[in-house]
Amino acid sequence: MEKTFLMVKPDGVQRNLTGEIVQRFEKKGFKLVGAKLMQISNELAEQHYGEHKERPFFGELVDFITSGPVFAMVWEGEGVILTAREMMGKTNPAEAAPGTIRGDFAVTVGKNIIHGSDSAESAEREIGLFFNESELVSYDKQDRDWIY
Ligand code: PPS
Repeated sequence: MEKTFLMVKPDGVQRNLTGEIVQRFEKKGFKLVGAKLMQISNELAEQHYGEHKERPFFGELVDFITSGPVFAMVWEGEGVILTAREMMGKTNPAEAAPGTIRGDFAVTVGKNIIHGSDSAESAEREIGLFFNESELVSYDKQDRDWIY
């Protein structure tokens, strides 16, 4: 089953939005298979955002993501990579639709609450960066037959 990497950023943790965000993905019907509250090191932040190294806001991005704890998660479900991105809303919260996480809770692009993998390749890479195999749980849930 498809998996994605989602992360409540430091602004989301500080603003007590972690529970709300977890609940949205749970209620949608996706399955949480890994999660941890953690402090990202500079090294991990630079690896995670490596593809944006040349962009003018790279330093700001690394400073922000390391400024406080994040809640890193792996979610599983059919089409979860793209659907989670839809549920997050556009990167710039000013353009994010109401009903999406960024549309409902964020104002500026620098502090946009949540990160989500944008492709299958990114998901695999990001899950591998943040989680060991032993931290991901494989289990059955009784609600599956009612969702799929
Ligand atoms: S995306 O979602 O990858 O297409 O978005 P992109 O525009 O390429 O942005 C990549 C990440 O950089 C963040 N970002 C910024 N941070 C600070 N200042 C400015 N101006 C800015 N523009 C973009 C954006 O939130 C993306 O972070 P993640 O964690 O991937 O969502």
